[in-house]
Amino acid sequence: MQNIRQITDDLYYVGASDRKLALFENVYPVPRGVSYNSYLLRDEKTVLFDTADSAVREQYFENVAAALDGRKLDYLVVNHMEPDHAALLADLLLRYPETTVVTTAKAAQMMEQFLGKQAARLQLVKEGDQLATGRHTLTFVMAPMVHWPEVMMTYDLTDKILFSADAFGTFGALNGNIFADEVNFDRDWLDDARRYYINIVGKYGVQVQNVLKKASALSINMICPLHGPIWRQDLAYFIGKHDTWSSYRPEEEGVLVIYGSIYGHTASAAEKMAAILASHGVKGIAMYDASHTDASQLVAECFRYSHIVLASSTYNAGIFTPIENLLHDLKAHSWQNRTVAIIENGTWAAQSGKAMRTILEEMKNITILGEDLSLKSAMKESQLQDLEFLANLIVANLTVSE
Ligand code: FEO
Repeated sequence: MQNIRQITDDLYYVGASDRKLALFENVYPVPRGVSYNSYLLRDEKTVLFDTADSAVREQYFENVAAALDGRKLDYLVVNHMEPDHAALLADLLLRYPETTVVTTAKAAQMMEQFLGKQAARLQLVKEGDQLATGRHTLTFVMAPMVHWPEVMMTYDLTDKILFSADAFGTFGALNGNIFADEVNFDRDWLDDARRYYINIVGKYGVQVQNVLKKASALSINMICPLHGPIWRQDLAYFIGKHDTWSSYRPEEEGVLVIYGSIYGHTASAAEKMAAILASHGVKGIAMYDASHTDASQLVAECFRYSHIVLASSTYNAGIFTPIENLLHDLKAHSWQNRTVAIIENGTWAAQSGKAMRTILEEMKNITILGEDLSLKSAMKESQLQDLEFLANLIVANLTVSE
């Protein structure tokens, strides 16, 4: 059954959601599913914005046919060639062979890489080019490395709608409500939006800042991303979040404690640290066992908080694997501008503190507070004052503390 939704007088949502997928990009858990958004403009010419993932093929083509309502498809705008949006491109062109594909030169090259050939009818566009479709005029905004090099966004000059590709997207299937103002975004979606942005686009903060600058020069009534809800109200809220994330500023002044603990002794010290922080009035402390939390969530949380306590057992004369993986993941995502305190543990030769420092020092603007607290197998009463001292350093360093 077709499941199209009308967005404006002549714009339709034709995408679909997948709730069966376990791992997006075969790496990120998506317990709330994911949507593959696509939009059809029914002007004097018909224009489809991107296709979808092969997982939603049947629903997608039913939707496109329903939205076209017997008309031919004049244009397919390919804003992004990643297969979660372009997997159905070849199939679409078989069904609608008269369609002209409008995209960047780089995307056309990728089309050849993925499909073995470029579209028969191809119109290459550059920054600022325009496409008149009748009542609407579309213009193209290049967005290289947000998060692939071929990416562009399309701006509808007539209705002031930005088709933003992956930007402003989020994990999470759409639950009937396709607009962000129809859901409690802050409560139900923000964590997934952060996890999506940080893990998929987080490395490319500079490029996102460039696009945000371009977007600020446009008058935007609506943002139509390729994943998650459409934004038609309170755009500044979500744009502001992306500005924070892409400039590597902490979203919250607060403390995140992450530990990697083999038998529980390192965990015990981390718990004690959190309790001491709380006793000093620090609120909203977050704590995770790195062995039991998906890496994508840990990375997103590290982007969220200003101060991070890292506690790790020594393992193979280095860092316990989940914490070591996290640090490499953070480095790969250009994590920076944070304050860290370190707790290490080792039964015969504690090495994890030094090894954590080495990786942290390779990152930009990471401040490590004080000396590492070094445990030998388990924390002793005599070390409480050292833990207190480290906790006090964190409290003194927080700009918001009570
Ligand atoms: Fe949603 Fe970069 O693909």
